[in-house]
Amino acid sequence: MTRTRLILAAVAAALATSAHAAGDPAAGRQKNFQCMGCHGIAGWKTAFPEVYHVPKLGGQHAGYIVAALRQYKSGERDHATMRSIAADLSDKDMEDLAAYYSQAAGGSAAAGK
Ligand code: HEC
Repeated sequence: MTRTRLILAAVAAALATSAHAAGDPAAGRQKNFQCMGCHGIAGWKTAFPEVYHVPKLGGQHAGYIVAALRQYKSGERDHATMRSIAADLSDKDMEDLAAYYSQAAGGSAAAGK
């Protein structure tokens, strides 16, 4: 009985870990240079083509970031700047970046959620 439970717990933990490790945060960190200029600064607003607020990515859920980037790439989400950026990202790039940002400072305490 207890043994079965232990095995189940181990399987569940392994599944959770592999699901979480889809992207490579270290690789994402290297790709992040193109995003830093806008997303790296808390409360940053760009002034071109109009003043708009840049959402914070640090601590954001990885799945959310990947979904958002895919939507920009497909045109489902409409924002000129992000569409042109996402157009150049592969699925792997998106996953790596998402893994990096979900663990990055700014929400690291809550990143485990
Ligand atoms: C020139 C500035 C700029 C750069 C560079 C940039 N972004 Fe963005 N990003 C924005 C703005 C502005 C928004 C909000 C767009 C909107 O309202 O849909 C945004 C939105 C996003 C969102 C959705 C966030 C949310 O809360 O819904 C994600 C994810 C994202 N960017 C990821 C990235 C990644 C990854 C990179 C680098 C590969 C990057 N961005 C580079 C300005 C930028």
